[in-house]
Amino acid sequence: PTIFVVTPTHAIPTQKADLVRLSNTLLHVPNLHWLVVEDADHKSELVSRLLRRSGLVYTHLSVATPPELKLQPKDPRWKKPRGVLQRNAALSWLRENLEIVDANGVVYFADDDNTYSLELFTEMRDIQSVGVWPVGLVGGVMVERPLVDNGRVTGWLTPWRPDRAFATDMAGFAVNVRLVLNHPTASFSIESQRGFLETDLLTQMGVTLDDLEVKADLCTKVLVWHTQTAKADLKIEKIMEQKGKPATNVGIE
Ligand code: UGA
Ligand code: MN
Repeated sequence: PTIFVVTPTHAIPTQKADLVRLSNTLLHVPNLHWLVVEDADHKSELVSRLLRRSGLVYTHLSVATPPELKLQPKDPRWKKPRGVLQRNAALSWLRENLEIVDANGVVYFADDDNTYSLELFTEMRDIQSVGVWPVGLVGGVMVERPLVDNGRVTGWLTPWRPDRAFATDMAGFAVNVRLVLNHPTASFSIESQRGFLETDLLTQMGVTLDDLEVKADLCTKVLVWHTQTAKADLKIEKIMEQKGKPATNVGIE
C-alpha cells in the first residue's frame, strides 16, 4: 500500500530547513506519495523547486488560512489551530483523484517540524482502519500514548484531557484511505476546541476505540517525536536592515 504523507507548511525563515529534513527522511521510504500543502494563496517557487529536486513522488497544493484565523506573532502557539485548511485540501485531493489513489493506502498527517523514525512508516503501512502509537516530547511530557490492554486500546496516557475520545497528537495515528473515501465530508474543523482536532476528525469517521490498531510493539516504542523547530534568531539581520545594510541572503534562497 501507498503511504500518503500530508504536510501543511508555511513560509517562515526555518521552512526550507524543515522541509529539507523531512524530505530526506521520506526519501528512505518506499511507495510514498507526499502531499505538501502550502498555507498561502499561491504555490511558492521555494517549495516548488524543493519538491521538483527532491526525487519524491509528490502533489503540491496551496490554500491560505484567512488572516482572522491566523496566529499573530505574539500569540501563544496553541491559540489557533494550524494546518487545518491545508490538511483538508489534501483530503479533498484524495477524494477527487480516485483513479490514481491507492484505495488501500494509508494517510498520515506529518507536520513539517516533527522527527520521524523510518520504522514508523513500516508500522503504518498495513493499517486497515486506524493505527495508533506513542508520540514523544509532546504535551509537556516525555511520551503520550494509547493505553493498551490485551492488545486493544482502552484509553490514553496523557496528562491533559485523557477523556478526549482520541487523546493523541496528529503525529500519533494514521488512517486507511478507505475511511477518507467512505466519509466524504469528514474533515478537520477550525471550530474544534484546542486539542480536539484529532478527536473530531476520527469521530466524524465513525471510529471507535475498538477499531484502533495498536502499533509500535503494543505502543511501547516511540517512533515519532513532536519536536518543534526553534524560531530563527534574526535580531542582527533586523538591526542591519534598520541601518540600511543589505540582507545577508540577497540572491540566496
Ligand atoms: C500541534 C500539533 O502537533 C499539530 O498537528 C496541530 O495542528 C497543532 O498543534 C494545532 O493545535 O493546530 P505545533 O507543533 O504546535 O502542533 O504546530 P506547528 O508545527 O506550528 O503547525 C502544525 C503544521 O501546520 C506544521 O506543518 C506547520 O508548518 C503548519 N502551519 C503552521 C501552517 O500551515 N500554517 C500556520 O500558520 C502555522
Ligand atoms: Mn510542530
